[in-house]
Formats: sequence, C-alpha cells, structure tokens
Amino acid sequence: MDLMDLIHSRRSIRQYLPRKVEDWKLAALGEAFRLAPSARNGQHRKLFLVRNPELRAKICQATPGQPAMLAQAPVIVVAAGLPAPEMTCGQSTNTIDVSIALSFLMLEAQELGLGFCWLGSFYADEVRQALNLPPDHRIVAISPLGYASEQPEAKPRYAAEDMITYL
Ligand SMILES: Cc1cc2nc3c(=O)[nH]c(=O)nc-3n(C[C@H](O)[C@H](O)[C@H](O)COP(=O)(O)O)c2cc1C
Repeated sequence: MDLMDLIHSRRSIRQYLPRKVEDWKLAALGEAFRLAPSARNGQHRKLFLVRNPELRAKICQATPGQPAMLAQAPVIVVAAGLPAPEMTCGQSTNTIDVSIALSFLMLEAQELGLGFCWLGSFYADEVRQALNLPPDHRIVAISPLGYASEQPEAKPRYAAEDMITYL
C-alpha cells in the first residue's frame, strides 16, 4: 500500500481475534523497528515480541485499566530504551529513538494487516519486572498486536491550518 494510504487507514485497534500472527510477519515488524533511524545511530533500544501466554498474563497484571485488549491479543509488543546521553536539544534520546522505531513498526503492522494500539498507560517498572529485564531497560511503550476484530472510525484531527505554519 502507498505510504499515505497506510497513514490514512491506520487506527488504534482495541479488539482482537484469537488468531496467531505468522512468524514472518513478526520478523518484518522487527526489521521495521531495527532499521529505523536513531540519534547518532546509537540504537539505544530493544524490542520484545511477547507471545508466551504466562508472560503476557504477567504484563496484563502490571497494566491495570488495559487488560481486555492486551489479554485478547496473541502478541504484546514491548519497546524499551537503553541508557543514552541526552541530546543537545534537551530531549531524551532513547524515548525519541524508541518512539520513531515503534512508529515504523506500527506502519509496517498496518501494511501487514495487523492491529496495534500504542499504550502509554502502564506501570513501566512492573512490566519490566514481569519480563525480568534489567533496571537499565526503560519501557517506553507497549501494545497489543494481532488481527483486528473491529474497524474503528477515524478519530478527528485538527485542521492543517491550525497545526501547520508555513514561514
Ligand atoms: C503516546 C501514545 C500513548 C497512548 N496511550 C494509550 C493508552 O494508554 N490507552 C489507549 O487506549 N490508547 C492509547 N493511545 C492511542 C490513542 O488514544 C490514539 O492514537 C488516538 O486516540 C487517535 O486514534 P487513532 O490511533 O485510531 O488514530 C496512545 C497513543 C499514543 C501515540
């Protein structure tokens, strides 16, 4: 699909079918994450594609308020940043690096017909402990991943003239 078509058609998916995601699709998502740009090409980021039911249940327990979509999805995506020097602009290097990589993954998921919903509402330390990751792994975002069982309408966006300024 054309990139703008992907951007137009993507939605946050919160309901999933109990259908396995093919290994080759998971590998393609990993490549989208791996090949994304990063500050100074530092690549201070890790991706975990959690299929193991026991680990997924532990993540659900560490994520109050989001259990339904996470429990339904056959895969939970967990993206972590590793320690990195702050950028000159004052922004957190690994938060931005991880967010770009996860955005690439999100669009690849759309291309592959898979649903995704970026979640920021979770307890990062508890998710990290659920996966037995070292303390230097800072979980930036998690997401359910799988085949959608819903087709949400597009959410509204501000008009271009309210957001974009040509100078
Ligand atoms: C950084 C970020 C954090 C988000 N956190 C949550 C969340 O905790 N729970 C949730 O249901 N959706 C979450 N979302 C999804 C947004 O609600 C969604 O992207 C927004 O409503 C626009 O809808 P759309 O993605 O279908 O276009 C998050 C999205 C982003 C980008």
